[in-house]
Amino acid sequence: MSNNNLKFVSFNHVYLQKSWDWLNDEEIKKLTSTPDFTRQQQRDFFDSLPRKDYKVWGMEFDDNPIGVVGLKKITPSSAEYFGYIGEKGFWGKRLFPIMLQFILLEAKLLDIKFIYLKVRSDNQRAIRAYQREGFTISGGNENMIEMTMRVI
Ligand SMILES: CC(C)(COP(=O)(O)OP(=O)(O)OC[C@H]1O[C@@H](n2cnc3c(N)ncnc32)[C@H](O)[C@@H]1OP(=O)(O)O)[C@@H](O)C(=O)NCCC(=O)NCCS
Repeated sequence: MSNNNLKFVSFNHVYLQKSWDWLNDEEIKKLTSTPDFTRQQQRDFFDSLPRKDYKVWGMEFDDNPIGVVGLKKITPSSAEYFGYIGEKGFWGKRLFPIMLQFILLEAKLLDIKFIYLKVRSDNQRAIRAYQREGFTISGGNENMIEMTMRVI
């Protein structure tokens, strides 16, 4: 599988519908710690874009939507990374390094000094990928881990 086929595209109505399906999948909902949400809340979120403190992109593989990635809580110095591959057949195929590379470029454009993330402590796949790519543990409790990375 060539990872050059992964593209980052604007988060449009296709991704709005797809993310409804992905985030309502029980496994993904749990892995991403997504609370219950309604169609109306999703529409309100979409209508609030673009926002200065929040950036989101769709991820496309060979022209098919497979996931979502972005930065939230953007301040002049930091932002929280978030992202998930919604199509499960793409898990564990080393797409995360490409997602991170893209996000680090965007963070640089915003002149952000560090990014951080929150992950469930039982999400071993995600934690493995985050640590492998350079995130280090900066806090948390028995349920959630917070990790950080400097933007260089
Ligand atoms: C988390 C996510 C973005 C990682 O991207 P990815 O492309 O799948 O990750 P990678 O392939 O780069 O790395 C996965 C690592 O976990 C390992 N792994 C795969 N399945 C695993 C499992 N069940 N338990 C432990 N480790 C596992 C892989 O071997 C790999 O480690 P390695 O490099 O040492 O071999 C993606 O899997 C995803 O979106 N998952 C579903 C939703 C989610 O968890 N989102 C994150 C919420 S914080």
